[in-house]
Amino acid sequence: AGGQGEYGRAELQNSGNSALLTEVSPVSQVWMSHGDSVATLPTGFEVHAKSDDGIVAAIGHPERQCFGIQFHPEVVHTTEGKKILKNFVFGICKAKNDWDLGDFEAQAIARIQEQVGSDGQVICGLSGGVDSAVVAALLHKAVGERLHCVFVDHGLLRSGEVNEVLRVLGEEVGLRIHAVDASDRFLGKLAGVEDPEKKRKIIGEEFIRVFEDEAKKIPGARFLAQGTLYPDVIESVSVAGPSVTIKSHHNVGGLPEHMDLELVEPVRELFKDEVRELGLQLKLPKHVVGRHPFPGPGLAIRILGPVTRESADLLREADRIYLEELRRADLYDAIWQAFAVLLPVYSVGVMGDQRSYAQVVGLRAVNSVDGMTADWFPMPSEVLGKISNRIINELPGVNRVVYDVTSKPPATIEWE
Ligand code: XMP
Repeated sequence: AGGQGEYGRAELQNSGNSALLTEVSPVSQVWMSHGDSVATLPTGFEVHAKSDDGIVAAIGHPERQCFGIQFHPEVVHTTEGKKILKNFVFGICKAKNDWDLGDFEAQAIARIQEQVGSDGQVICGLSGGVDSAVVAALLHKAVGERLHCVFVDHGLLRSGEVNEVLRVLGEEVGLRIHAVDASDRFLGKLAGVEDPEKKRKIIGEEFIRVFEDEAKKIPGARFLAQGTLYPDVIESVSVAGPSVTIKSHHNVGGLPEHMDLELVEPVRELFKDEVRELGLQLKLPKHVVGRHPFPGPGLAIRILGPVTRESADLLREADRIYLEELRRADLYDAIWQAFAVLLPVYSVGVMGDQRSYAQVVGLRAVNSVDGMTADWFPMPSEVLGKISNRIINELPGVNRVVYDVTSKPPATIEWE
């Protein structure tokens, strides 16, 4: 452990003596997330790059072709990261480039058919987001009428979500959808719970219980399909090593130990950008594929502190105004994910000649490719002003709006 951490944007100063950094600019932007430093080099190793803080950022052993780096080449904010990975995979390891998402659809369908057999009935949890929509479309192709989509309203959805999902995925895409109003169940279980990990686990379990209840109504339903992605897996569980749990994504680390249904997770190894590409291949409408991601636990992890129906209603309205203004300013598609957060903080305001003491709404907007790292979106100030004005004027209970200017890392995208 070094004295100084490096989180987020940093500069890589390439010494020019590394096969790994071939053709990487002398100075380039990289993304860091660590508190460690190299104090002494192992025998035979040399320094290949330093950060602008003078901390060793890359080392290598020329004869053994062995390399170590202390930044993340895989994230989009490391501007020449792909070049570094290519140097390693093709230049140093001499691997062949033969992965193609084009083959993925056929392979995924075959794998699903093999898993569920010729008579298995499959429940698919729809969230309104792109991942579960893509999974449903794949399953529809794989098992046809044996697919039963269940859309759970946990009382923590975005404004207008239920109707939108039924209209677009039901009517436009042609999926058979059972909508379940489970808001009393979820909000009841969440009453008084403040801890983010507890909230996530309660929601993860409750989803499964609702799906199990729905499955009982369908003879032969043994399988539950869900849109788990690789980042959910990485951040929820330690996959192949000592990575710590960052947060329990509701559909992975938030799952109960005992479940009656067997999971079908055809996109578990894909990243968001790949799922979107697959969605387009499957001919899902562009506006479904291009929607901002929305987490399964919904508004519960955007209401800091205990969740109530009233706080969910308040946040839902703030979020609706925010997204409405982003669309109006033609910014929605320029942003990867934007949402409002309700803070358990009261501050003093003056409205007219009255003192107010009300809650704070935080606005978050980030750009990302896969959700693993993100940078805050430089929102034009006139748009921010308009959103702030509308939220405060239209929502009694809020008298202050703040904008979040933190990248991931060190923050995560969601606040909980
Ligand atoms: P974080 O907050 O981990 O978010 O930086 C990365 C992306 O994942 C989404 N997210 C979730 N999605 N279930 C989901 O389906 C979850 O439990 C969950 N937690 C975070 C988040 O909205 C962002 O797009």
